[in-house]
Amino acid sequence: MSRYQRSIELFQRAQGSLAGGVSSNVRALAQPPLYFHSATGARIVDADENVYLDYTLSQGPMFLGHSPPVVLDAVERAMRNGQLYGAQHDLEIDLAESIQRAVPCAELLRFCNSGSEAVHAAIRVARAHTGREKILKFEGHYHGWYDETLISSAPGLEQAGPPQAPKSVLASSGQLASAGENIIVLPWNDSDLVRATMQSLGHELAAVIMEPVMCNNGCIPPLPGYLETVRDLCAQHGIVLIFDEVITGFRLALGGAQSFYGVTPDLATFGKAMANGFPIACLAGRRALLERIAKLEVNHSGTYNSNVMVTAAAQATIAELQRLDYQRIHQLGETLMNGLRELAADYGLPLLIQGLGPVFHLAFTERDAIADYRDSLDIDGVRNREFVGAMLDRGIRLLSRGLWYLSAAHTAADVQHTLDTVAEIWSERGWR
Ligand SMILES: Cc1ncc(COP(=O)(O)O)c(C=O)c1O
Repeated sequence: MSRYQRSIELFQRAQGSLAGGVSSNVRALAQPPLYFHSATGARIVDADENVYLDYTLSQGPMFLGHSPPVVLDAVERAMRNGQLYGAQHDLEIDLAESIQRAVPCAELLRFCNSGSEAVHAAIRVARAHTGREKILKFEGHYHGWYDETLISSAPGLEQAGPPQAPKSVLASSGQLASAGENIIVLPWNDSDLVRATMQSLGHELAAVIMEPVMCNNGCIPPLPGYLETVRDLCAQHGIVLIFDEVITGFRLALGGAQSFYGVTPDLATFGKAMANGFPIACLAGRRALLERIAKLEVNHSGTYNSNVMVTAAAQATIAELQRLDYQRIHQLGETLMNGLRELAADYGLPLLIQGLGPVFHLAFTERDAIADYRDSLDIDGVRNREFVGAMLDRGIRLLSRGLWYLSAAHTAADVQHTLDTVAEIWSERGWR
């Protein structure tokens, strides 16, 4: 009998009612697709009562750990009075003011429900502001699943075109064939190419959008000076710089990657860690840009925007994050990364770990760096899947794509336990 028997049965049953047995395509990638019934702190429990130390943070949101009482209490208290007014309430002003204080670019904000929505709004505002239509994005960066953003986020090499002039590649059947026409794609971290592209096309570009750390493929930080250069180039050419901080926001620092690296974009999008699992996101940015929305010139709407539950969750989460020792999480992540590197060296495994303490990427590869999306294509995915499966069997939950997230609830003992477990796996025959 499988250790995942109940999940397997539930997955079979789900095929009859849920398309593919899941509610998000990304979840179908986990093997086996597990069902969970509870989670607290850094631990999560599946339908078979297996307990896991969780490094997925449910794709990143659970940055305080699962079920933090302060957030749950705040939501419960607030929602007892009313859940959705289809109008304003004072908590949303408190929240907006908290984010204004924390995030350098946040002169004005709007709340919405998901990262994809926030990016959609950012692009619309940038187009309205500049009167231009083209958007520059980077190969391998993910900005949500909408038609014009699900472009070249993980293209196959055979479709992707030349490395210095990638094609804009659609990723889903049913996407408008024209969705990629206004999207220009460049490799990450090549400021000369950005400069050259702006020289020829700058007058047509509404925005440059990027994950300031390319978390979605290889967790590749910006090269020193890269963000500053792109910032200057955007200013010179009147192009709106958008940081998609859906992963980095409230995680690298309270003020996100923009405060961590000291480079302020014109617009930024936030989600995930902002409300510890509750579905709220936001668009923040320079007053002149958000005023396009304020004047109702740009339509930004949503029935559920700033509903009481998610607003209370975000406000309580950010209040907790204001007290958080970010340095501790960075250091704990460094300890884990270094420990994994040392173990790989001991066991003679080709391993590359990149990223920052709170979010990093582990890859089985001979490379000594993954500098852009295409470098990530020759990672040994089979070996990673085996590793993720072996860790799962021993009670440690990882994302199958190699990204690791740490939360405030992870402890030094958790990290040591993880390293001991990895040593156990890698010392087995077949891994050497
Ligand atoms: C950088 C980035 N932007 C946007 C999104 C889309 O956010 P959501 O899944 O909340 O729509 C994601 C999701 O993983 C993301 O990682």
